Amino acid sequence: MMASLPIEFDQFTFVDLGSGKARTLLMASEYPFRKIVGVELIAELHRAAEENIREYRSPTQRCRQIEPVLADACEFELPEEPLVLYLFNPLPERAFSEFLQRLAKSLAGAPRPVWVVYHNPLLEGALDASGFLEKAGGTPQYSVYRTTGQR
Ligand SMILES: C[S@@+](CC[C@H](N)C(=O)[O-])C[C@H]1O[C@@H](n2cnc3c(N)ncnc32)[C@H](O)[C@@H]1O
Repeated sequence: MMASLPIEFDQFTFVDLGSGKARTLLMASEYPFRKIVGVELIAELHRAAEENIREYRSPTQRCRQIEPVLADACEFELPEEPLVLYLFNPLPERAFSEFLQRLAKSLAGAPRPVWVVYHNPLLEGALDASGFLEKAGGTPQYSVYRTTGQR
C-alpha cells in the first residue's frame, strides 16, 4: 500500500487512526516518513504498541520517530502537516462522517496535501461524497484517496 503512494515520504507525517498494537506503524517505519503517529482508543492496545515500538529492530527501518497516542480518533487534533492518513475501519459510519467534516475544517484552516489509505474500504462512499477527496488508486483490499487539486 505504502509503495503505491507517489509522494516524497520525508515531507509527510503518517497517521494511523486506530493503530492497535502498532503493526501498521512499524510497517510504515520502513519508509522515510517525516514522522509516524498512531492514535489508539484502548489503553491495553496502546501499551502493547508502546512496547512493540520499543522492541522493534529492523536494519531497514527508515523512520524512528514513532509516536503512539492514547486518544479517541474522533477528537484527535490532526497535525498541520502534509499527511498520509491510514484507516483500517476504526470508526462506524456516523463517526467516520464527522471525522471527515473535521478533516475538511482542518484543511480549510491549513491547506496541505493529504493522502488517505483506506484498508477494507467499507465506507468508501463517504470519501467519494466528501467534495475534497478524489480516488487515486487501490485494489479490492484498499483504496487510495488524495485531496483534490494535487498534481
Ligand atoms: C481493525 S483495527 C486496525 C489496527 C491497526 N491499524 C492495523 O492496521 O493493524 C482497528 C483499531 O481501531 C481502534 N479504534 C476503534 N475506535 C477507535 C477510536 N474511536 N479512536 C481510536 N482508535 C479506535 C480499535 O481499538 C482497533 O485497534
